[in-house]
Amino acid sequence: MVEQESVEAGITVPVDQDLSEFDEESYSSGIESYATSLTSSVTAYNWQHGRRYHGYKEGSYKFPNDEREQDRLDLFHCMFRLVLNGRLFLAPIEDGPLRVLDIGTGTGIWAIEFADEFPAVHEVLGNDLSPIQPHWVPPNVVFEVDDAEAEWPDRQPFDFIHSRYMCGSIQDWPRLLQQAYSQTKPGGWVEFQEFHLVNYSEDGTLREGNNVNRFYELLREACDKLQRPVTIGKELEGLADDAGFVNIHHQKFQLPLGIWPRERRMKEIGAVNMVQFLEGLEAFSAATFTSVLGWSIEEVQVFLTLVRKDAKDSRVHMMHDFHVVYAQKPL
Ligand SMILES: C[S@@+](CC[C@H](N)C(=O)[O-])C[C@H]1O[C@@H](n2cnc3c(N)ncnc32)[C@H](O)[C@@H]1O
Repeated sequence: MVEQESVEAGITVPVDQDLSEFDEESYSSGIESYATSLTSSVTAYNWQHGRRYHGYKEGSYKFPNDEREQDRLDLFHCMFRLVLNGRLFLAPIEDGPLRVLDIGTGTGIWAIEFADEFPAVHEVLGNDLSPIQPHWVPPNVVFEVDDAEAEWPDRQPFDFIHSRYMCGSIQDWPRLLQQAYSQTKPGGWVEFQEFHLVNYSEDGTLREGNNVNRFYELLREACDKLQRPVTIGKELEGLADDAGFVNIHHQKFQLPLGIWPRERRMKEIGAVNMVQFLEGLEAFSAATFTSVLGWSIEEVQVFLTLVRKDAKDSRVHMMHDFHVVYAQKPL
């Protein structure tokens, strides 16, 4: 179902009426490398349909971890920074001898940039199912392979726990927040940044039958079947409250798909979002549509050509929302 907001409700993202110089091909990302890293741990990974998947706790995360996907995650990171006006987080954290945790750190780019920006930070620990983080990092950054859904190891509490873009990964969100609560210092902060992957347009240009929207519906269906929802953004505030956090702040950001917005920053966000979307289509669907929805890989590929075509139609002013919730553990 298309979640449609009424035109009367007001347009918050004005449309650029002059896209005459826009060339659809300008969306091609240039990220074409299928090369994979040849570290010794590569043998622990799994391969399916030409993409590489994590080996530790095999199958619990249905998206690839190869270099192509790592490039996409780093591109997404640039988009997140644009969305937050250049910031890495919104919680009121100040420099100091803090201990910081980044749950599901991916390529570790957030942890590394945090440590660069706050050199006095004692330690930034990033954990992930995949050991795909670089070796040359600031001295206060540590990465470890860990399952954030398992019982967290006993350790000193953190001043700040951050987690971004883990929708589609986590089954038990209440437990994740409870474990985060138990390992946050009194007075410390947590910040969760997540999508609500339901598309809408403010001017009625997103219609039934749009293949991009269909793609997201199928992705949602697959992730719901896996009990790893991609609509968690809206729930974060309640989850933080239930876990016992106070001083809960919630901000919602609109993410356009494509260069159709008139305002420059939104246009830039839309452009990056489009490149990562086109680059990530196969990553999102190769395992989920086949092993969860029962499609053949050929069916997926045929469908993706329709999705790509509809994605580049700048007459459709599609968006979905990204939620940031930060909250404090009571003193
Ligand atoms: C979509 S990526 C986001 C990466 C990073 N947080 C970012 O924003 O760039 C999700 C990451 O979570 C990791 N992941 C998924 N399930 C996990 C789990 N149970 N424990 C730890 N990491 C997990 C995946 O391996 C992947 O690197």
